[in-house]
Amino acid sequence: MQQRQLGPFTVSAIGFGCMNVSMGYGPRLDDAEAGMLLNAALDHGYTFLDTAALYGAGHNETLIGRYLRHRRREYVLASKCGLTRDADGKAHLDGRPETLSRTCDDSLRRLATDVIDLYYIHRVDPKVPLEDSIGALARLVEVGKIRTIGLSEVCVDTLRRAHAVHPITAVQSEYSLWSRTPERKMLAACRELGTGFVPFSPLARQFLTGKCGDVTTVGDDDIRATIARPRFEPDNFAKNRRLLEPYAAIAARVGCTPAQLALAWLLAQGDDLVPIPGSKHYPWMVENAGAAEIRLDPATVAELDALINEDTVAGRRYTEALMRSTDSEKDWVR
Ligand SMILES: NC(=O)c1ccc[n+]([C@@H]2O[C@H](COP(=O)([O-])OP(=O)(O)OC[C@H]3O[C@@H](n4cnc5c(N)ncnc54)[C@H](OP(=O)(O)O)[C@@H]3O)[C@@H](O)[C@H]2O)c1
Repeated sequence: MQQRQLGPFTVSAIGFGCMNVSMGYGPRLDDAEAGMLLNAALDHGYTFLDTAALYGAGHNETLIGRYLRHRRREYVLASKCGLTRDADGKAHLDGRPETLSRTCDDSLRRLATDVIDLYYIHRVDPKVPLEDSIGALARLVEVGKIRTIGLSEVCVDTLRRAHAVHPITAVQSEYSLWSRTPERKMLAACRELGTGFVPFSPLARQFLTGKCGDVTTVGDDDIRATIARPRFEPDNFAKNRRLLEPYAAIAARVGCTPAQLALAWLLAQGDDLVPIPGSKHYPWMVENAGAAEIRLDPATVAELDALINEDTVAGRRYTEALMRSTDSEKDWVR
């Protein structure tokens, strides 16, 4: 696969979102099948793996430790702290230094590794001074438990404050044709600071592949039925689905699949972006890797920009309550 630079790391241009094998989009994979898929992802050239303490309440990190520990030198490992889930499934936001330090030790044990390459704060905790949370991660860098620091779903002001305490290697936020908040301020700020950008949900939670239905087709615990519901509500989805016909026509013209087109559009936004599609299906994992070889000409990028964007899509990316509490959305100023 084509390579890109993310801070000090040379990584595959497309990373592998590991979350899906443990949670998010339908039932988790059987552990042994997940182990085979993770190994197959490395075999297909993915060298950037994305996980978090939150995913499956540690299950996702445990899978990586169990099935990939013998190949640890082959991948750059990113995990996240500050947001965890207890045995009852309840999520806890906790950015206190002692919690982040303890979560890191737990993650290292589950991941069966001595060091996490890129350690993100999953969501900033408004109850804790940001400088204290970043300071805790800076100490983890000093003692060699993590190599670099990242932030997820933050706004530019938060990035700048954090960067003043310790260099931030990457920001990870939702970014795709239908979720454009990072274009407002964040991509420019990342370039100014030398911070990489990792788009999550780059396939628009499967919408851009043309293979998903509305909210009535998924289970209650599917992200598309919970926090990302608005665009999958039947009325909104019916409107959004109309965008897929001209979109598929562009993919056919380019000679790629709709999923690959979504990823190629992200790669065309700059060399400093490394999208991380997630899948628990072997053929889709292979298909997504293939997007790294596609180069879109500027006219096609502009055509896609005009076709699918926040003005042409019905519904917001999260529920209203979550939109209000998501730090990155402070950058959305009309
Ligand atoms: N920092 C954060 O807060 C945050 C939030 C969300 C996600 N993430 C990370 O980002 C990764 C990707 O995000 P995501 O999983 O939410 O969204 P996504 O990659 O945009 O979409 C995932 C959905 O698309 C399906 N899919 C994947 N490739 C496909 C293909 N080629 N054709 C048809 N369907 C395909 C998946 O199906 P199957 O899963 O059934 O194969 C799943 O339903 C996650 O794995 C996770 O590591 C981070």
